Amino acid sequence: MKLLVTGGAGFIGSNFIRYILSKYNDIKIINLDKLTYAGNLENLKDIEDNPNYTFIKGDICDKELVEEVFSEDIDYVVNFAAESHVDRSIVEPEIFAKTNILGTVTLLNAARNAWTLGDGFKEGKKFLQVSTDEVYGSLGKEGYFTEKTPLDPHSPYSSSKAAADLIVKAYFDTYKMPVNITRCSNNYGPYQFPEKLIPLMINNCLNKKPLPVYGDGMNIRDWLYVEDHCKAIDLVLHNGKIGEVYNIGGHNERTNIHIVKTIISYIHDNVDSSVDESLIRFVEDRKGHDRRYGIDPTKIKEELGWYPETKFEDGIIKTIKWYLENREWMENVTSGEYQKYYERMYSNR
Ligand code: NAD
Ligand code: TYD
Repeated sequence: MKLLVTGGAGFIGSNFIRYILSKYNDIKIINLDKLTYAGNLENLKDIEDNPNYTFIKGDICDKELVEEVFSEDIDYVVNFAAESHVDRSIVEPEIFAKTNILGTVTLLNAARNAWTLGDGFKEGKKFLQVSTDEVYGSLGKEGYFTEKTPLDPHSPYSSSKAAADLIVKAYFDTYKMPVNITRCSNNYGPYQFPEKLIPLMINNCLNKKPLPVYGDGMNIRDWLYVEDHCKAIDLVLHNGKIGEVYNIGGHNERTNIHIVKTIISYIHDNVDSSVDESLIRFVEDRKGHDRRYGIDPTKIKEELGWYPETKFEDGIIKTIKWYLENREWMENVTSGEYQKYYERMYSNR
């Protein structure tokens, strides 16, 4: 069994590779990653010599390279590779269209060419597209996203992910290609790049820097511990019904300000008592900021028996502890380019 993981040097991809290698000894993983600012081979240091693991540095938009990778008789593809940060997409939308849309078509096409047999497809193949709940847009106070919620993305990031989803669906509708789409809520856990809310706030607390909360801090996200997400992808890959979409997440909704205060309180009590809520700064809101995301996990629970095992209160402590134990990792990823990024995004906010 050969599994092509794209974007495996990023946050979720690296956690997924580690999870699969520890659970199976008959799956060989090829990790294809361009190593953008978000890709980091340090995330995979502990498994880089595993005989079931191979790394290829490359771009999912590079047709020739992708075709060459498929000459390896790939069975499954899990496509994590993407530009993933909403704030960056507001400043630089083009790269989101290129990687997230064109990259996905390039992979789909190579998979289709390699997997076609007669009028159909070889047995045991699957292309799993890792998408996001952000394709559904924003919720009011009531209700949840189900797989039938109409797509209504707002940011250049979420619209590029929605476009990719529609192309994946087209490969199923047109060619009957074996695909699944998963749409998860906000992930958190080890190895997340500190441009995203939770690791950014942990890092700023540790450095006693102001904590930039957008708008009124009352936007809500439905937080999913990354290992729970990896388990769900594994289940969909092996047991998901071909052509189906599965939402992943559920009932861990928290406001941003609650999260920031939780992080402050842990660091205050366990690391540095001078860190307190006086570090909070309410800053200019994100353009087009979605108010609330909330997943209805009924389908994946009923069909595949998955539910989010980690409660937010436990997951956030595990996460903060990981960053405390891996200060060197944080220092390495926040040196150099990150400083320029931070200046650009936050200095005039
Ligand atoms: P990430 O930004 O941490 O990692 C992305 C990885 O993709 C990096 O290793 C990067 O080097 C690689 N990459 C980028 N462009 C590439 C290209 N052209 N070719 C090959 N590799 C490329 O992202 P993440 O948070 O791990 O997210 C993974 C996937 O999950 C993405 O598709 C994202 O849209 C989706 N997702 C993430 C979240 C979340 O909370 N993090 C929530 C919902 C969905
Ligand atoms: P983020 O981690 O960027 O994920 P997403 O935009 O994909 O949901 O942001 C999570 C929430 O936190 C979102 O409502 C924006 C907010 N936020 C801040 O208030 N301050 C920050 O510095 C960042 C990065 C995010």
